[in-house]
Amino acid sequence: MCGIIGYIGKRQALPLLVEGLRRMEYRGYDSAGVAVAMPSGIFTAHAVGMINALDEKLAALSGLAGTLGIGHTRWATHGGVTEQNAHPHADCTGDVWVAHNGIIENYSELKNELTARGHVFRSETDTEVLPHLIEEAARAYPEAGLGEQVRVALQKIIGTYGIVVLDRRAPETLIAARNFSPLLIGIGGGGIGDGEYFVASDASAVLKHTKEVIYLDDGEIAVLTPRGHHVSDLGRNTRTKTSERIEWTDDEVKKDGYAHFMLKEIHGEPEAIENSIRGRIVLEEGGARLGGLADALGVLREAQRILIVGCGTAYHAGRIGEYMLEEYASIPVETDIASEFRYRKPVFRPGDVLLAISQSGETADTLAAVREAKQKGVFTLGIVNVVGSSIARETHAGVYQHIGPEIGVASTKAFTSQVAILALLTLLVGRQRDMSLVTGERIGSELKKIPDLMREILKQERAIKKIAAKYKNAQNFFFLGRKYNLPVALEGALKLKEISYVHAEGCGAGELKHGPIAMIDKHLPSICIVPHDSTYEKMISNMEEIRARKGPIIAIATEGDERVQTIADDVIYIPKTLEMLTPLLSVIPLQLFAYHFGVQHGHDVDKPRNLAKSVTVE
Ligand code: M6R
Repeated sequence: MCGIIGYIGKRQALPLLVEGLRRMEYRGYDSAGVAVAMPSGIFTAHAVGMINALDEKLAALSGLAGTLGIGHTRWATHGGVTEQNAHPHADCTGDVWVAHNGIIENYSELKNELTARGHVFRSETDTEVLPHLIEEAARAYPEAGLGEQVRVALQKIIGTYGIVVLDRRAPETLIAARNFSPLLIGIGGGGIGDGEYFVASDASAVLKHTKEVIYLDDGEIAVLTPRGHHVSDLGRNTRTKTSERIEWTDDEVKKDGYAHFMLKEIHGEPEAIENSIRGRIVLEEGGARLGGLADALGVLREAQRILIVGCGTAYHAGRIGEYMLEEYASIPVETDIASEFRYRKPVFRPGDVLLAISQSGETADTLAAVREAKQKGVFTLGIVNVVGSSIARETHAGVYQHIGPEIGVASTKAFTSQVAILALLTLLVGRQRDMSLVTGERIGSELKKIPDLMREILKQERAIKKIAAKYKNAQNFFFLGRKYNLPVALEGALKLKEISYVHAEGCGAGELKHGPIAMIDKHLPSICIVPHDSTYEKMISNMEEIRARKGPIIAIATEGDERVQTIADDVIYIPKTLEMLTPLLSVIPLQLFAYHFGVQHGHDVDKPRNLAKSVTVE
């Protein structure tokens, strides 16, 4: 989704802004722009397409000196993908410039009012009302300072925003403000300030320069100057903020010789799982110790139901958690897509616990579900990767994934890590209830083996790449699974769709004969997840049904299973593990298949069209 960067300090702003924008490219965007305050006035550049297009424009210019600037990558919501609509946007005078993430819901009404008062708009965006409102505030309160003028403007806004603002007349001030759209302040000078601040919507944009950050909360405005920072709310009350240290290293944001981040992240899954489970399995007790849940143990012991919410891949992980928790922890679980959960009228009951799953911790719908549950008095938990993110801060307790940054838009290591943590949660809650020590020990010891088993599967990458090439011309795919591997089928289809743009449908194999089977013919391959588990015989029957209709079959099967070979056209083997842990293995061939299929179609799999890494709008 859109990315924001801002800089004030002693260094030249422009290269820092462009570098920050590049580091947020993975979030997904369609145009970009910068505005830099120079002694001679404000310099701006906007371009449609990749940051390279913006860089080419900038390269044609020289001597752009200025130590205060803002930049933006835009993911279009209001108005087409054009240079005019790319941020930053200005007021009528060209003095005030704003970059904005979020949506201003009352923009149309504000725009009409501003136009009636003589303001001239140059874009179709909702954002542009902001600089014009600040222009009016500056006229009404010329002595108030930019921070106060921005506050007056924001008081008229209904909607969500993360903004950075600069004004030619205030060359020593950078303003940042947040409402439901993530924003952080990077404290430069190695974390001691030293007259230098960054503003960013994403920590990866500033990591190279500082690891000391302040996360803004909703309704806060920060005034940054070379002399220091001041944070207050819309009611002018000072907010005391403490900085936090980001543990991710800058190296983790690099590709390490892999062609794409997605491939690096798939190959990083064994290590990611090791990091997610390290020190958390207590084998001798057959249980799990999750530091972030230490204060929630009582609530979990008394819990009557767990409501899991998430979007996309995180939702799929949640569905697997539902099977695990119900089967082994004997607690009712309902999993819902966060965007549905928040818009229906969820009926909460005493003893409900809401568990939000989100890699970024910023997904708007998931965050809204957390807020809705909290508002109704429900205890909330999170499984989140990004430390300090909104969901991590707003849930009552939670578990961090510890997998480092996930840059590829198509989520891979975040998924398996979430599933592994759900297995840990199952151990924890299960041992509080009726799970036996032996079962707990078994799950714990099998979970510990998963990283090495994943490494075995990754060795088959070349064979999987060949299979992807064999089916390159297929325009539709089915992904079929049952029980624990139904969500994996959904996830496999999502991966293929998002990076290859061919149609794929994930489906419970039992549902096939209730409709989808009508589609089967020799042109429609089915990827069947058929590990040797409790649903094996049923899956075999479904594969026979497909074969009888001449549908090609790619099977994901357990090592040593020769029967599957007689039915499927292609087989990818995964090692044996506990049934509840098979998703951690069966998903890897699907991720590799999608990756190679997408690459073979010539797509930039790290930045699929129309998609954003972190979906911070509803
Ligand atoms: O950051 P989150 O885990 O909350 O993101 C949720 C989804 O937007 C995300 O999983 C999305 O579906 C991915 N593109 C899937 O690969």
